[in-house]
Amino acid sequence: MTKAIEALKKLVDGSDNMVFFGGAGVSTESGIPDFRSTNGLYHQEWKYPPEVILSHTFYKSNPEEFFRFYREKLLITGVRPNAAHEKLAQWEREGKLKAIVTQNIDGLHQAAGSSNVLELHGSVHRNYCEKCGKFYSFEDILHSEGVPHCTCGGQIKPDVVLYEEGLDQRIITSAVNAIANADLLIIGGTSLNVYPAAGLINYYRGNKLVLINKSAVARDLAANLVISDPIGETFSQL
Ligand code: APR
Repeated sequence: MTKAIEALKKLVDGSDNMVFFGGAGVSTESGIPDFRSTNGLYHQEWKYPPEVILSHTFYKSNPEEFFRFYREKLLITGVRPNAAHEKLAQWEREGKLKAIVTQNIDGLHQAAGSSNVLELHGSVHRNYCEKCGKFYSFEDILHSEGVPHCTCGGQIKPDVVLYEEGLDQRIITSAVNAIANADLLIIGGTSLNVYPAAGLINYYRGNKLVLINKSAVARDLAANLVISDPIGETFSQL
């Protein structure tokens, strides 16, 4: 066990009020590419930049192309939680982890058994008719063609926060409260590029801030411990 992992283990063993703040890097070991690593989604060739496709304007003006990209790149089937998701679920069961604040929309934390998961950017597992509000599942969208429509005729929209859209205020408030009251904050698998999500970590008031990320993050962080190994691999040693 490296010195860094030993230090992480000591921090975790000594805390019963942890919060985890994560991003796409938590799911790469499950086979879901992240956005900004070299082989990430935003470095693949598309007719439009993915950040444009995943915007409210594009969703409204070019729904056919939006859903083509969405089904191909965001509705990933056959993926399972990895050691990072499993360990976080274990810590929640043990009463050590109070909340997961995630930017991910893949539902893998819940699939691993976590229940207090604050999904800042929504989830591909929830889709609603824009006219009548009827719920549709991941599979409903996956197995539909073109622009999906409700039985009432309305267009079905994924419950995913697109660029230009606001985040759910209740989720933000819960995330701020959890982070502000946390004893130990672990940030993992995120480049901290996207706001307001990345700004939420400013509410942390403790002195046990851990960053587990394979590359440098987009903002300075007064972390007390920095680990640049894969997060699933790291957590599997705890
Ligand atoms: N272990 C640790 N870190 C990893 C791993 C891993 N196995 N795999 C990737 N990483 C790191 C990468 O080095 C990168 O810094 O995770 C980070 C992922 O960063 P991004 O790809 O920018 O993903 P994220 O931070 O979640 O993006 C935030 O951007 O486009 C929006 O809505 C989208 O929620 C997303 C938001």
